[in-house]
Amino acid sequence: MLPEASLVHGAGAGTGARTGTSPVGASAASSLSSTGRAWGKVILLGEHAVVYGVPALAVGIDLGARASAVRGGGAKSTLEVPGWGVSVSEGDGGTDLARAWTAIVVAARQDSRAVLSAGPVVLTGHAELPPGGGLGCSAALGVAIARALVPGMTSEEAAGLAMSWERVFHGNPSGIDAAVAAHGGSILYEKGSPMQSVPLKVSLTVCLGSTGIASSTKTMVDGVARLREKKPELVEKAFSGITSLVRNARLALEAGDLAALGNLMNLNQMILSGLLLSTEEIERLCGTARDDGALGAKLTGAGGGGCVVALAPDAATAEQIVAGWKVAGFTGFSTSVRPTQVTTGHEAQL
Ligand code: PMV
Repeated sequence: MLPEASLVHGAGAGTGARTGTSPVGASAASSLSSTGRAWGKVILLGEHAVVYGVPALAVGIDLGARASAVRGGGAKSTLEVPGWGVSVSEGDGGTDLARAWTAIVVAARQDSRAVLSAGPVVLTGHAELPPGGGLGCSAALGVAIARALVPGMTSEEAAGLAMSWERVFHGNPSGIDAAVAAHGGSILYEKGSPMQSVPLKVSLTVCLGSTGIASSTKTMVDGVARLREKKPELVEKAFSGITSLVRNARLALEAGDLAALGNLMNLNQMILSGLLLSTEEIERLCGTARDDGALGAKLTGAGGGGCVVALAPDAATAEQIVAGWKVAGFTGFSTSVRPTQVTTGHEAQL
């Protein structure tokens, strides 16, 4: 698991000048300075099942991660994450962060565009998301780092490079987190297939509430794998139910039918609870949100803690939902996801 960090409130807080549908990307103003950014992600439906080839729907959110690389350091390239108070060098063992840094540096070196080809770098990373919160913190940081290490990559390439980092934290990641971190927008992701953009008919207002409990994606994914070994029929039925929900949710998104989308999210939450991924805090957050007018609410990401996503019909209801969470002792924020195109091709040079 990554080090602890606190939940940042307010969509877009600390994200600099990223606005609207502008792509997140990398720049290499000179051989001495290269930067990268990435989106955070919210899985609307389909987490866990996506690891086994079921499609999932996810959207990028403005809170994400950024990274900048400068020439320097000692003989080895170094990663510093000031917000977490950590600094690791290539080849260090001991922590997942050190191993992930080593893995991404080794993979980046295979690319002739890598800033590493001219010598070691000091890379500074900033995550704007809570680690272990189900919002794709590690993938966002991995994609931002990938972009800073190899300027000029396409989103596909950045997501691919970030997978070497993601595998250290998550063991068997589906790739959805890295795909959304790199592309933003709203996507349907199916492991092993090209990612599909899902055009939104209307903006989505989503509220994200934190249980305050960090969870390990690897542990939760391992838990589902164990349950699948013990009760294969139960888990296969759950996955086939989720497949139908995701397909219908895609249609609801394309039609702008938010009430239908909310119902499908509630049904997905029931199935996730059956897979032992929910907790008392998650259920309380979902229940409070529904009482306060959410069209649907469910855990998002790995579960076992982390965050829930609640779909609000409008901004005023979103405020009520977040206020209700605060009264119940939780933290949260709302953000909107606008109809947008997935970022493809080469990123804009900043
Ligand atoms: O909790 P997060 O943000 O790491 O999301 C995990 C999503 C899973 O479907 C549970 C795992 C995966 O690799 O897709």
